[in-house]
Amino acid sequence: MRNSLIPSHFLVETVSKHKFSRRNALDIGCGDGRDTFFLLNNDFTVTAIDKDKASITEKMARFKDSNLKVICDYAENVELGSQVFDVVNAQAVLPFVDSRFISVLLENIHDSLESGGYFVGQFFGVEDEWALTSQNITFHSEMDVRKLLSKFNIIKLVELKKYGFTQKNEPKFWHFFSFIAQKS
Ligand SMILES: C[S@@+](CC[C@H](N)C(=O)[O-])C[C@H]1O[C@@H](n2cnc3c(N)ncnc32)[C@H](O)[C@@H]1O
Repeated sequence: MRNSLIPSHFLVETVSKHKFSRRNALDIGCGDGRDTFFLLNNDFTVTAIDKDKASITEKMARFKDSNLKVICDYAENVELGSQVFDVVNAQAVLPFVDSRFISVLLENIHDSLESGGYFVGQFFGVEDEWALTSQNITFHSEMDVRKLLSKFNIIKLVELKKYGFTQKNEPKFWHFFSFIAQKS
């Protein structure tokens, strides 16, 4: 099982490789805040969204940082604004967004990014073990992922299939696509 405060690999890569004019980031589905923490430590002002009240009220409260704004809501309900962020991070959350609203959310994320800004995240693949049992998670093929990201330039798209563990330390077969995409 991963250490909860180790940030996402593709987010670290994006932040360390590029220069940002505003250093304004959005962390969608922030969870326990491992990526929010990394962004704050790298001088970003962060808006962190999670639908889970405990993530927002308890876990994020521990950061006590004036550069952090937290929103407790479903990401698809939040008005993100236009050209506000230079990084939008959405790790292990997009598959959990109601599939009826994913295209609208991706459109909003695109609008909320400055030109040249980066969108970093993941989708689950169709061979993921949870596809056999879960009704409220969406699984995609590579073609679906490319279509969903068609407004962005895909900088990196990596497919991974591996045996591993869930956050509850239960064994699981993972299949996912991690991506770094850029707004033109
Ligand atoms: C698997 S956790 C990932 C947490 C964090 N991004 C990470 O990588 O460690 C998924 C998180 O997304 C949140 N979430 C799921 N669907 C959401 C939605 N539609 N809008 C906002 N947050 C959501 C859950 O409450 C949970 O905290």
